[in-house]
Amino acid sequence: MILTSPHISGHMTIKWFVYFSVRSICNSKTCNPKPQIEHQKQNIQTCSRYYLGNLQASIETYLEKTCKIHYRSFGSTATKIQRNPSYSALTSDDINHFKEILGEKNVIQDEDRLLTANVDWMRKYKGSSRLLLQPRSTEEVSQILKYCNSRCLAVVPQGGNTGLVGGSVPVFDEVIINIGSMNNIISFDKVSGILVCEAGCILENLDSFVVNQGFIMPLDLGAKGSCQIGGNVSTNAGGLRFVRYGSLHGNILGLEAVLANGTVLDMLATLRKDNTGYDLKQLFIGSEGSLGIVTKVSILTPPKLSSVNIAFLACKDYSSCQKLLLEAKRKLGEVLSAFEFLDNQSMDMVLTHLEGVRNPLPPSTYDFYVLIETMGSDESYDREKLEAFLLRSMEGGLISDGVVAQDINQASSFWHIREGIAEALMKAGAVYKYDLSLPVEKMYNLVEEMRLRLGQSAKVLGYGHLGDANLHLNISTPQYDDTVLAQIEPFVYEWTSKQRGSISAEHGLGLMKANEIHYSKSPETVNAFLTNPFVILLLGLANDHSMGELGNDHEDIFTAALIIKIH
Ligand code: MLT
Ligand code: ZN
Repeated sequence: MILTSPHISGHMTIKWFVYFSVRSICNSKTCNPKPQIEHQKQNIQTCSRYYLGNLQASIETYLEKTCKIHYRSFGSTATKIQRNPSYSALTSDDINHFKEILGEKNVIQDEDRLLTANVDWMRKYKGSSRLLLQPRSTEEVSQILKYCNSRCLAVVPQGGNTGLVGGSVPVFDEVIINIGSMNNIISFDKVSGILVCEAGCILENLDSFVVNQGFIMPLDLGAKGSCQIGGNVSTNAGGLRFVRYGSLHGNILGLEAVLANGTVLDMLATLRKDNTGYDLKQLFIGSEGSLGIVTKVSILTPPKLSSVNIAFLACKDYSSCQKLLLEAKRKLGEVLSAFEFLDNQSMDMVLTHLEGVRNPLPPSTYDFYVLIETMGSDESYDREKLEAFLLRSMEGGLISDGVVAQDINQASSFWHIREGIAEALMKAGAVYKYDLSLPVEKMYNLVEEMRLRLGQSAKVLGYGHLGDANLHLNISTPQYDDTVLAQIEPFVYEWTSKQRGSISAEHGLGLMKANEIHYSKSPETVNAFLTNPFVILLLGLANDHSMGELGNDHEDIFTAALIIKIH
C-alpha cells in the first residue's frame, strides 16, 4: 500500500452526458392534446415506427450508418406512445415567424445539426424534428413558447443533450428549443459565493469561473464539459459531490422559468433564507421540464478548499466497502467529499474499452474498488487524518490494497476510471442502464441476483455513488435483445420497489421510466401532486378536462404529465 505524499490540488474529468430533459408544453384551449398511450408489457416499440416522411427515412439511414444507433427506443418495457394528431405540423409560415423573432441564423434547419439534436447520448432515443431554435434571451424563449402554444406546436427544450433516460430529445417532430446560446454569467457575489447565470452555461465553465474567485460548484459530474446548468437543475442531477454538498434542492437559491403560455416566472432569489410562502422553485428542480423551461439560475457555491486528497482502494468484498463507508463517515467526517465504488466487472470494462487507462493497483485485480476524496483546509492535518484512516482500515481488513494520488495526473487517472465506466459501456455495445436508490446493505444483492438471472448472456456491472446509496446497475450485451430486456424488466423495478427504493436516484424518469413511477411513488402521492391546482396550472392543464378522466388510472396520469405536452 502506498501512502506517501498524497496532496493534490484538484482533478480533471472527462465528459459525456448531460442532464437536460424536458417535455414540451402546449396549453391552448383549442389544442387539448390528450396523450395516446398504450401499455405494452412485453414488446418495445421504437419511435421510428411512428415517423412519417422521407426526411425521417433518410435520417434513420444516416444514423444507422454513422452513429451506430440502437433501435431500441424507450429502452424500457412499459410505454408505447403515438403522436397525438391534435398537435399541429410545422409550416413555412411558422418558420418565417421564428425567423422574425430570432433572426435567420438562430432558426436551424440544417440536416446535420438536426441529426445530432434528434438523438440522445446513449443513442437509444431519436426523434424526427425538422427545426431547432436558438433563443438568446428569456424574452425570446417566452415569445417562442407563446407562439407554439397558440399554434399547438409541440416543443422539446434541449441543453447539452447528454441525458440518460430519453428526456432531452424529441420523440416525434417537436420543435427543439436549444438553450445553449443563453450562456452568460449574470453576477457573482464574492462574499456569499452566490452565482447567478443563464441556463445554457456549461457546468465546467461555471466551475472554472468560480474556481478563479476561490469557490467551486456544489455539483460535479462526468458530463460537466458539455452539460448545462439548466439541464442539471431540471433533472436535479446528483453526481460526485453530493455526499458533501447535497442536492440541488438545497443549493439552488432561485430560478427563472418560462411557462407554456410564455409567462415568465421570476423566482431568481439570491438569498439563503426566504420564508415568504410556498417555495415554488422547488417544483421545477427535477421536474424534467414538464412545468416549463428554466432560463436562469441562482446557485450557492461553496469555498474552494486548498487541500484535496484522492485514494483508490481495493476491497475483498461488498461488505468491506459498506463498513469502509461507515468508517469514512465517522473518521473522515467533515473532509469527506466523495465515496464512490465500482466492482471488478466495471474495472474490467474500463480497462478493456478506454485507451490509456491502467490498473492503479497492478498486478492484482480485486472484486471491489472504492475511490475516496477528501477536501479540507489544512494540508498536513487532512493528510494525517486520511493516512490514519487508511492504515486503520487496512489493519482491520477493510482495505486489501490502495494508493493515494501523488499528483494531479494520478488523481485525474483515478477519476477517469470511475467516470469513464459509462463511456466504456457505450463502446462495448448495448447498455441497459438503471439508476437506483437502495439501502446500502441490500444494494449489491440486486447485482448478484441479476447475474444469476442473466447467466452468460450479459455482463452485469455495479458501480455508483455508494456514499449516497445510489447504485448504477448496468447490463452490457453486444446488441439489444428483447429476451434480455424481458429478463431485466420489470424485475429490476419490482426488486427496487420491494426495498422501498427509488427507480431514479439522479438521472430522472425521462421517457424511459415515465410509466414506471408507481414503483417508487404511491398512487395517492402521484394523485395529490397531479390534482394540485397549482401543478395543474403549471402543466397548462387548467382548461383541460383530461385530468379528471386520467385520474382513474394513476399510471396514465403521470405518464400524461410527462408526455401530454409533447405530442
Ligand atoms: C455516473 O455516475 O457515472 C453517471 O451517473 C453515469 C452512469 O450512471 O453511468
Ligand atoms: Zn451517477
